[in-house]
Amino acid sequence: MLAGGAYPAMLALGMLKAAPAHAFDLKGRGNGKKIIILGGGLAGMTCAYELNKLGYNCTILEARNRAGGRCWSVRKGSTNTETGKATLTAHFDDGQYFNAGPSRIPHNHQLTLHYCKELGIPLQVYNNVNESTYYFAEGKGALSNKKIRVREIHNDTRGYMAELLAKSIDHGTLDTGLTKEDSEKVIEYLMAEGGLDPDKLYKASARRGYIESPGAGDRPGKIANPHKLADMIQSGLMDPDFYNVAEYTYELQMTMFQAIGGMDQIAFALQKKVAQSLRLGAEVTNIVNIDNGVKVTYKDAQGEHAIQGDICICTLPLPVLSNVSNNFSGDVSRAIDYISYMQTGKIGLQFKRRFWEEDEHIYGGITHTNNELTQIFYPSYDYLGKKGILLGYYNFNEKAQKVGELSYAGREKLALQKGRLIHPQYDTEFENSFSVSWHKTQYNLGGWAVYTNETRKTQYPVLLKPDKQVYFCGEHLTYLNAWMAGAFESARSVVAAVHGRLTDQRIQYPAKTDK
Ligand code: ALA
Repeated sequence: MLAGGAYPAMLALGMLKAAPAHAFDLKGRGNGKKIIILGGGLAGMTCAYELNKLGYNCTILEARNRAGGRCWSVRKGSTNTETGKATLTAHFDDGQYFNAGPSRIPHNHQLTLHYCKELGIPLQVYNNVNESTYYFAEGKGALSNKKIRVREIHNDTRGYMAELLAKSIDHGTLDTGLTKEDSEKVIEYLMAEGGLDPDKLYKASARRGYIESPGAGDRPGKIANPHKLADMIQSGLMDPDFYNVAEYTYELQMTMFQAIGGMDQIAFALQKKVAQSLRLGAEVTNIVNIDNGVKVTYKDAQGEHAIQGDICICTLPLPVLSNVSNNFSGDVSRAIDYISYMQTGKIGLQFKRRFWEEDEHIYGGITHTNNELTQIFYPSYDYLGKKGILLGYYNFNEKAQKVGELSYAGREKLALQKGRLIHPQYDTEFENSFSVSWHKTQYNLGGWAVYTNETRKTQYPVLLKPDKQVYFCGEHLTYLNAWMAGAFESARSVVAAVHGRLTDQRIQYPAKTDK
């Protein structure tokens, strides 16, 4: 159990304290009042889960024949439908999967960790940061088309930057406003941080790895010369493509977690809890506020149906909602249309052999490129197993748009062509692939909400309030965009508002004691 890193086992051993968020404990009863929830993703199912606990009568309408929304692991037989394309089916081996949506849980997302605990979902560590992965600059400068271990670039740039700054301070060319003693302290720090020699020059050290490993007897190990700073700059290795985002961004700092066996375990566990409320294959076609309630029309395999409820909670992604007829106010309709969504795509590539581990000693983490792939992710599970699925690309914006336009076969070809420049083993080890373009995927039409300062100020607040009896809910109504925590936080916030309204209470969420 310990080797599996199972969350309950870690808890039992006192290695990981119970996630500090707590069960949602609201007073008062819903007395069977009817709540219609649109969308059976994490936000919608969490609303139903919490409202059912309070005695409401919830109905979730989910257009797909599966629940979970973006919280989805692609396995053998999984299908996806993108606009203008035939439905795609995955042909991975039994037991192989990749997380097409969320794949990593920040340690600071306490509510996500809490729900994993409440729902009994075992977690394991997700290795987001790995110095053994590569930077690969295609077609640029002296380091063009070379796969370079991240540790070389990180330590060389850190060393050169420290050297430049130490020199400037030493020569008095920088007006730091510091005392002489403090300046000396800064130089000492820079020498340690950059690994500088006594002359304050960067000369490379074992931090950047060996070209001959140290061993017994007369084998002290051999270190290569550092890359030239000008080469790194001219090859674009200091460009935004290669910024050290994985370690610096608050959410991406280690430790990160994942659900053992696929992130869809979270969706499955919630689905079990709300099975009575869930109608799959039910596509919403019309949402109308009526006197004291809401009427929702949907179509399923049997035809068109209309249901009425006291309250509706709409978790549909905004680009999808934008195409559903409704009688919302002008301000609400505008907000739905104006808030933009990320274009993003992933491809899972199944390989016969875990060559990245066997040949290249890469266990989890991310390779960064300046080409359409943007990133290659190595799985943080089944280490040293027989086969495995790499994330052959995970891209955004224009690159994701361009790749999304390709046929499924075209995407696979591109992932293999560009990927083999880094891992020539692709040629002999590749088996099959499955790609998802979230902005082209039916019932999503985007990865996640992306706010500008302007839309955050003008449009976001509009959707935080209900339009009469319709509440809006999901990651797009939080500051946790693109995270499962956003779905959970938004669900609790809307449940508190709905319950307060229907039981005539003032409920503050988060409660004053919550952090
Ligand atoms: N939360 C998303 C990710 O982990 C953006 O990539």
